[in-house]
Amino acid sequence: MTRKIIIDTDPGVDDAIAVFMAFASSGFDVVGLTSIYGNLPIDITTDNARRFVELAGRPDVPVARGADRPLVVDDIGPVPFIHGDNGLGNAELSDPTVELSALHAAEFIYQTALAFPGEVTLVPVGPLTNIALAVRLHPDLPGLLDEVVVMGGNAYSPGNASPGGEANMLHDPEAADIVLGEDWPLTMVGLDITNAVSLDHAQLAAISAVDLPPNKLLAAAMPFYQRFYEDNLEGFEGLCPHDAVALAYMLRPDLFETVKKPLRVEMQGMGRGKTWPADPYHLSQPGSPWAGRPEVTICTGGDAVAISELIVAELTGGTA
Ligand code: BDR
Ligand code: CA
Repeated sequence: MTRKIIIDTDPGVDDAIAVFMAFASSGFDVVGLTSIYGNLPIDITTDNARRFVELAGRPDVPVARGADRPLVVDDIGPVPFIHGDNGLGNAELSDPTVELSALHAAEFIYQTALAFPGEVTLVPVGPLTNIALAVRLHPDLPGLLDEVVVMGGNAYSPGNASPGGEANMLHDPEAADIVLGEDWPLTMVGLDITNAVSLDHAQLAAISAVDLPPNKLLAAAMPFYQRFYEDNLEGFEGLCPHDAVALAYMLRPDLFETVKKPLRVEMQGMGRGKTWPADPYHLSQPGSPWAGRPEVTICTGGDAVAISELIVAELTGGTA
């Protein structure tokens, strides 16, 4: 089955892996990319999204520019030391040529959902600002979407961008708390599983060996991101393709372990950005912060090796 998706993205090397996986897979019909600040500022992430549709040979797929900052507070800032100054591992890039959509990302998401009621799954793999804006501008959006599959959060693991916070949540916790509190079918594919999924040297070589423009870009972009992992995690070899794991979940949910619980996002101090799941006893307490919140499907684990093999298979046409 082919599923219509909009990827809301802040490219980012692992975003590139995810977007090219989506374009390569017969499981997805990418109906739009929306950009968001995050790994790099919005001008850079938007240009990278435009490059992606060109390199994938799909200049017909609209790219809509999104928010340049969080809803309420100043951004924590970009991470060029992880993704390179250009967000793509300092690979040599040509100027993008495709026109941007005239719509803001939030409006594009709504209009696309209206055009295909019940068919579109939203896949946010960056800060959740555009998604919060879209649902606040258009409260009927949840009823128009098939599903929302978010890469972000950490229910039972420490953060990666701070002691408590996963990067996508920490950029805009206020937006994330809105998105995780909406009444729509939402799955959180966070660090609880994505930290366990890595691509090793042989898998990176297999992806890089394919003689197609997306793979050539990945071959040039991945080494910088890989160095961040190998320099900072003792004994680790390869890289974590966080954002691609959300797409793997859509293709093979059977490879994932999940629980259903309401979530809140921490706003304060060292824990800012932490996603907190509630157990029944939390909910039973008077004034529970989770009162009235919908259940979210939370990925808590899974078959990390099979998930990595699936990502590689999609990016290599099954040749690896
Ligand atoms: C997430 O943060 C970003 O740096 C990555 O692109 C991914 O979306 C991982 O925490
Ligand atoms: Ca991302």
